[in-house]
Amino acid sequence: MIENNEPVRAVLGIDIGGTGIKGAPVNVATGEFLAERHRIDTPQPATPEAIGQVLKQLVDHFAWTGPVGCTFPAIVHNGVTLSAANVDQSWILAPAQDILAQATGLPLVLMNDADAAGLAEVVFGAAKGRQGKTIVITLGTGIGSALIVDGQLVSNTEFGHLIFPSDEIAEKYCSAKVKEESGMKWPAFTERLNQYLLHLQLLFSPDFLIIGGGISKKHEKFIPNLKGLRFPVVPADLKNDAGIVGAALEAARQSGI
Ligand code: BGC
Repeated sequence: MIENNEPVRAVLGIDIGGTGIKGAPVNVATGEFLAERHRIDTPQPATPEAIGQVLKQLVDHFAWTGPVGCTFPAIVHNGVTLSAANVDQSWILAPAQDILAQATGLPLVLMNDADAAGLAEVVFGAAKGRQGKTIVITLGTGIGSALIVDGQLVSNTEFGHLIFPSDEIAEKYCSAKVKEESGMKWPAFTERLNQYLLHLQLLFSPDFLIIGGGISKKHEKFIPNLKGLRFPVVPADLKNDAGIVGAALEAARQSGI
């Protein structure tokens, strides 16, 4: 039933990953997709210019003319990409937001992938309406993080790059990739993840923690066995769509639609 005549507030959300670039127009009032998601392989090498061309293809696919929100798996500060842990090194210090906006010919907001996922979880997912400190951890090739305080995102936290447990970074210790590539079984992985979450507890005293990334689909294999944490740990609600939805939300906020 149509409840009012207000126009749909829509933004094209795009999620840039190591193997695929996915997009869909998002109704930012509901988080719903307005058309079926479209995916294009990530070009190799995945330079800003090559990715710009893929974004243009996505824009053309949806015949899109409005604002675009886009994720990237690295630090994005004021539109500049400042790191490249698992992506092409040419992104370091690139004015990526401007490059991608020019490639699409549309207003475009670029943000960190885990920040986008976190925002989507707080607005539409597992942490909807929560006050206090929520941490979202995404376990994939790397470890991404989002910190949300009373519904406000504190961007670029990079908790996956904390030195942990001693002389390496956390994402080299307990990412989904580490589990997969080493053939680690669930108990050993859960133990590592538990130690890392205890470290986050010591440093940040979160009120709530969400685990996202592909591995969160198997949450029953590890979340129930986590011990000694003072906050609830839950799997992400939005699964693969969180980045697209979160980036669309941020672009809507910044463009005032
Ligand atoms: C990057 C983060 C990113 C995470 C997940 C890390 O290696 O430093 O910026 O959010 O991977 O993609």
